[in-house]
Order: sequence, then C-alpha cells, then structure tokens
Amino acid sequence: MAETRKFPHHLIREIFEQPDALRRTIAPRVSLAEGRVCLDQIHISREELRALRRMNIVASGTSRHAGMTGQYMMQELAGVPVDVDYASEFEYRNPMIGRGELSIFITQSGETADTIASQREARRKGSRTIAISNVEGSTIAREADGFIYTHAGPEISIASTKAFTGQMACLFLFALYLGKIKEEVSKELAQQYIGELLALPQKTETILAAAHQVEKLADLYYRVDDFMFLGRAIHYPIAMDGALKLKEVSYIHAEGYPTGEAKHGPNALIDFRLPLLMIATCDRNHAGSVVRYQKNLGNMEGFKKQGATVIALATEGDIAVPQLADHTVFIPAAPELLSPILEIVPLQLFAYYVAAKRGLDVDRPRNLVKAVTLE
Ligand code: F6R
Repeated sequence: MAETRKFPHHLIREIFEQPDALRRTIAPRVSLAEGRVCLDQIHISREELRALRRMNIVASGTSRHAGMTGQYMMQELAGVPVDVDYASEFEYRNPMIGRGELSIFITQSGETADTIASQREARRKGSRTIAISNVEGSTIAREADGFIYTHAGPEISIASTKAFTGQMACLFLFALYLGKIKEEVSKELAQQYIGELLALPQKTETILAAAHQVEKLADLYYRVDDFMFLGRAIHYPIAMDGALKLKEVSYIHAEGYPTGEAKHGPNALIDFRLPLLMIATCDRNHAGSVVRYQKNLGNMEGFKKQGATVIALATEGDIAVPQLADHTVFIPAAPELLSPILEIVPLQLFAYYVAAKRGLDVDRPRNLVKAVTLE
C-alpha cells in the first residue's frame, strides 16, 4: 500500500507502512496449525519463564504506552503481575526487583539513555531482561539477556508510529508465548489469537483506506487549541498516545485520561470548548469489554449534556455510539487485547493531518530529537 504511493512526509508514509510492518513482525513468528509462537532470541529457558513471579516493563514516551498495553496482555494471558514504569523514574523508586523476575525494556531506537540506565539497574539487582527494539544490534539489545525485534523498518519521522504498533504486536506475541508455557493458554485459544494476529495487517489496511474521513475531521478541528482523549483499561494508553502524537506534531495541548477519571476533576473543563476524543470500541466476545462499553456510553451521554463535542472510535457495526457522538470513526472488530493496535491508527492520522494543515514541520517537531541519548 505504502510502496505504490508518493507521500509528502515521512510520517504519513510510515503510518501507511504499518500493514507491511505488522506482517514482518508477526507472520514469521507464528504457526497457526500448531498454535505456536516462536521467539528464538529470548535466551531465557522455559523453566525459568514457567517459574516467573513478577514482571516489570520500563520505557519512555510512546514506548511506555506500548508497555502499558503489554501489562494488560501479560496479566490476562499469562497471569503474571506486571508493573510499568517511566524509564526516567525507574531508579528513583528503588525498584524492589531481583531473581525470579523479568524486566522488559522497550525502545524503538535502542539508545534511549534512561531506558539503558534502567536495564543496567535491573540487571544489577539480578533481574533477567528482555529488550524490545526496532534497531538490530542497538545498545539495549546487546546488553539484554534476550531480545525481540519489531522489524518495523527504519523510522525517520520523530513521532513514533509503526514502531509503536510493532511493539504492541511483540508484547502480545510474548504474552501468548508465556501464557502457553505457563499453561494459562490452551492450544485452541492460541490458534484463535494467532488467527486474529494474522488478520491485523488487513484490518489496518481497511482503516488506512478510510484515511480521507479522518482528514475531513482534521479540516474541522485543526484550529482548536485543546483536546482531551479518553479511554478505559487497555484503551487508556491509546488515548495517552493519541494525545501525545497530537501535541508533539501539531503543538496542540492534548491530555490523555482514563475515561472513568474524568469525574474526579477534569470534568470541570469539559464543555463546548474542549473536544473529546473517546475510545468506545467493544469486543462483544469479552464480558469485561461489554461492561466498559456500556459505561462509556453513559459517560458520553453525560459529556454531550455538558455541551461537549465528541469524536468517537467505535467498532464497525455499532449503532449506539454514532447516535450519541458528533463524529464516529469505525474500527474493524478485534479481540479486546488486540484492538489497541488498530485504534491508534486513526489517531496517528488525525495528528498528522492536523499538523500538516497547520503548516508545521511534521517530521521534525521543534525541540525534539529521535533518540534521547542524554538523561
Ligand atoms: C513519541 C516518541 C517518543 C519516543 C520516546 C522513546 O512519538 O517518539 O515519545 O517514544 O522518546 O524513544 P525510544 O522508543 O527510542 O526509546
């Protein structure tokens, strides 16, 4: 898809490269017939993984948002408790980690100073480490016990897009791998999930084919100076990343918040001046997702009564969300734990189109660098 088109910026090309990048990340590592995930560069024995008591995920920025989705994946599929930290804060909380634990460090560049320092700290304390990186042979990968490469291809634009979806795919692969070792995931369930993983690139293409709809939204909203992004559970880190993308490339103030937290303060801000971007997708086969979806509808109704404009992300075929929201962007149906990989794509497009309409240097936003190599 990306190869046959000419793009004005690296950012939009990289957004469109995601279907192919996801194919490279996922397909060579799974066997649908056997319900098996193959991660041969983990270099940690099955016995050690079976005995795992706890995990840490440490990263910065967008990579940390991937880590937050990973927490839901690991806990649901492998039943292992997971803590997620900002790399820049990790050592300050004197992390009580050690043997019998695993720490995962996620970094696109593999050279982020805080993430490297955190990995060294975890190793000093006796934790086993795995690096998830997009750059082969990077410092983080060289120093880790094992690694999983995202294989997203070079990411040139400062805002991270295809590496982010690749990181989430790698975290899911590892969660499935661990879930099987710990006998929390049956062969049948693994096969179902592998089928869904393999369907992601095609679903991403469907979203990208409707990019013009997101561009129309950008036309309507590119002059607005504040935005709030809301999501619950595994969708909350996607709200955070949607807000981060918008602020870094368009210089618009945007906050990502857990939907249920709005009533604990931010709701005072919500009126006609603050457009909301609400993630209100639903996995009908997941009881928790259905409950959260109902709560989201209730929240949306309340925000609309306060005069807010709501742009919603909903699952294809949903009829309740479009009745409440001012605009609805549809996402193909996917299991709760995989839906974030799809949800972020329209939010990346939105940030891109808004920034481009503002005439900004979308690939090189001011004051930012691609790899933060100084603490
Ligand atoms: C946001 C973005 C940054 C990076 C962060 C970590 O779009 O690109 O927030 O995610 O600086 O960089 P890596 O992943 O290279 O450690």
